[in-house]
Amino acid sequence: MSAASRPLAPRRSGGEPRGARLAIPEPVLDQLEAHGLPVAGTLAAVEDKLHAQVASSHAFVDEAARYLIAAGGKRFRPLMVALTGHLGDATRPELVDAGVIVELVHLATLYHDDVIDEAPARRGTPSANSRWDNTVAILTGDYLFARASELSADLGVEVTRIMARTLASLCEGQIQEVQGSLGALPPDVPQLEPTVEHYLRVIGGKTASLIATSCRYGALLSGVDPAGVEAAADYGWDVGMAFQLSDDILDIAADPETSGKTPGTDLREGVRTLPVLYALEAEPDGQLAGLLDGELADDDTLDRALALLRGSAALERSRSTAADYVGRAVGHLDRFDGTPVVTALTRLAEYAVDRVG
Ligand code: IPE
Ligand code: IPE
Ligand code: MG
Ligand code: MG
Repeated sequence: MSAASRPLAPRRSGGEPRGARLAIPEPVLDQLEAHGLPVAGTLAAVEDKLHAQVASSHAFVDEAARYLIAAGGKRFRPLMVALTGHLGDATRPELVDAGVIVELVHLATLYHDDVIDEAPARRGTPSANSRWDNTVAILTGDYLFARASELSADLGVEVTRIMARTLASLCEGQIQEVQGSLGALPPDVPQLEPTVEHYLRVIGGKTASLIATSCRYGALLSGVDPAGVEAAADYGWDVGMAFQLSDDILDIAADPETSGKTPGTDLREGVRTLPVLYALEAEPDGQLAGLLDGELADDDTLDRALALLRGSAALERSRSTAADYVGRAVGHLDRFDGTPVVTALTRLAEYAVDRVG
């Protein structure tokens, strides 16, 4: 089978691609390729190397590390690397390594995030913490970070420094989210007020930082000039903001079949995402505020809160904020005007908010 025709997700012997329904839809990828920007070859090479890079001679480490890779996933960050690689010389082999690095780092954060969020499901399958336990999930995440660092060392000091800084931002975002959540924080953890400003800072750190870095890598490693690299990273940042906003809308509105995750996880953890903040701003003393004041531990209360949010104007307002970030992202591409890659990057920014999973 040629690299270009290989599936994005590994195949089960003789069956459907595993986790294929959680992948980026084929028509979206086809549209990108239709602009003369082949990405399938790079993504197939990323997929192969991802598997090779996590191999361990310790059978259980090997199994736990492959677990979420095999479950599927969109490979959105490697796609960002591959597409922004078309801003320069898209044939550079370093782009494949960079795609593997960003996916491995992302994957490691998923193992850890599901421990933090006590999430039962990920990529349509039980999360690592529920399949095994928190210890296994945390150590496997650490193992994946180590494998990413090893590969990054091959690409040099600059690439490694960029990722180190990205990870610091990611951790800062995750910690600030916990500080702003209304769950049972240990008494000596300083509480932060969950405002819109706080929310935007959190999602910038935990999500936009890595998506910005994916685009920075794509431009840098394909030989784009420094100002172009900054523009690509700025584009990635705003796409990342829109991507997380959409994720937070999906936590309320998505069908778990298409998202592969358990709806209401943010609410249950006391995390006030933008739709919740908007809904409370519109009706500070309404029914939702009353429900959120209490424990959302029982499924009935959680379902009622979700139903109120699904029917609220806050959801539409959040979608419109996400669309503003898409507009801003595309604005950073002005300097590349007239090149086919701009059309493709615009389509991808739109996908970040149109997606259903
Ligand atoms: C989930 O990321 C975590 C967020 C930053 C929202 P993705 O939606 O890219 O997850 P996968 O990789 O497709 O599973
Ligand atoms: C994702 O935040 C951020 C990282 C994984 C770093 P969420 O907690 O909102 O993501 P999901 O919904 O679990 O994928
Ligand atoms: Mg989570
Ligand atoms: Mg989280």
